[in-house]
Amino acid sequence: MKILEERSGCVKYLDLDTNEETWLNKKIFEKKYKHLITENHLKMPTVPQEQAMTKEERNIPISKQKKHHSIVGFSKDREPSDFYPTPREGTIALLEREKFEGSIWECASGDGSMSKVIEEQYKDVYSSDVRTDEDVYGEKGIDFLKTNKKFNNIITNPPYRYAKEFVEHSLKYADKKVAMLLKLVFLEGKSRYQLFQNSPLKTVYVFCKRLPIYKKGIKTKNSGLICYAWFIWDKNYEGKPIIEWIL
Ligand SMILES: C[S@@+](CC[C@H](N)C(=O)[O-])C[C@H]1O[C@@H](n2cnc3c(N)ncnc32)[C@H](O)[C@@H]1O
Repeated sequence: MKILEERSGCVKYLDLDTNEETWLNKKIFEKKYKHLITENHLKMPTVPQEQAMTKEERNIPISKQKKHHSIVGFSKDREPSDFYPTPREGTIALLEREKFEGSIWECASGDGSMSKVIEEQYKDVYSSDVRTDEDVYGEKGIDFLKTNKKFNNIITNPPYRYAKEFVEHSLKYADKKVAMLLKLVFLEGKSRYQLFQNSPLKTVYVFCKRLPIYKKGIKTKNSGLICYAWFIWDKNYEGKPIIEWIL
C-alpha cells in the first residue's frame, strides 16, 4: 500500500498489487493496512486547508476527482521490468490441466522459470523477453507488444502493468490457446469488461493457496500475498467461462 494523499481525515492510497486508488478514513486505513506500509510510505504529503476535501467531493469517484498529489500509474517500488518469476508449481498446475497442440510462445520469459518447465513436456517452445541482460532465457530484446509473430499457443506470466495489452495482443497472434498467469483481480474492472465480453475465455483456474511469486524471486516480508489464477482463452471455445480451483 502506498499513501498518495491525505485530506480531511481521509487518505488516498494506491494498492501496489492491483494499482487501484481508493479513499479511506485514515484511522480505518491505519488499522487495516499499517503492517503493509513501509516507513517511506508513511510520510504523507499534507494538503493545504483550501484543498481540503468536502463531504460531496469524497463521494465523487476517484477517476472524476481533481488530482492534487496523485501519483497515477506505477509505484517506484515496482520492479521496472516487472520481473516476478513463476515458481515451478505454478506452471505445473497449468500443464496438468491444459494440453497444448502445436507451437508455444513464452513471450515474457524472464530467466526462463516458466519456459524451462514447459519445455519438459513440449518440444516446440520459443522464449523471448524485452530485457537484454545475460539472465534472459531465450531471445533478448523482443518487445512482445511490438511483434507480430504467429504461434499456435501463447503462455506467460506477463508484466502486470501491461497484462490487458498482453492478453489482447496474444489473442491476435495465437490461433489456439492463450494461457496467462494473472492476478485474480484481473477479472474485475470496467476497462476489462469489454475484453471478457469479446474474447473466448474458457477457464479460470484459481490458486487456493497463494503462489510464492516474489519480485526478482526474492522473498520479502509482505510479498506472496496475492491471489493468482490461470486464465485460459481457447479460440475453439464458444461457451461461458468456467471457474475451477487449484488446491
Ligand atoms: C512477471 S515476469 C514473468 C517472467 C516469466 N514469464 C515467468 O513466468 O517466470 C514478467 C516479464 O515480462 C518481461 N516484459 C516486460 N515488458 C515486456 C514486453 N513489452 N515484451 C516482452 N517482455 C516483457 C519482463 O522483463 C519480465 O521478465
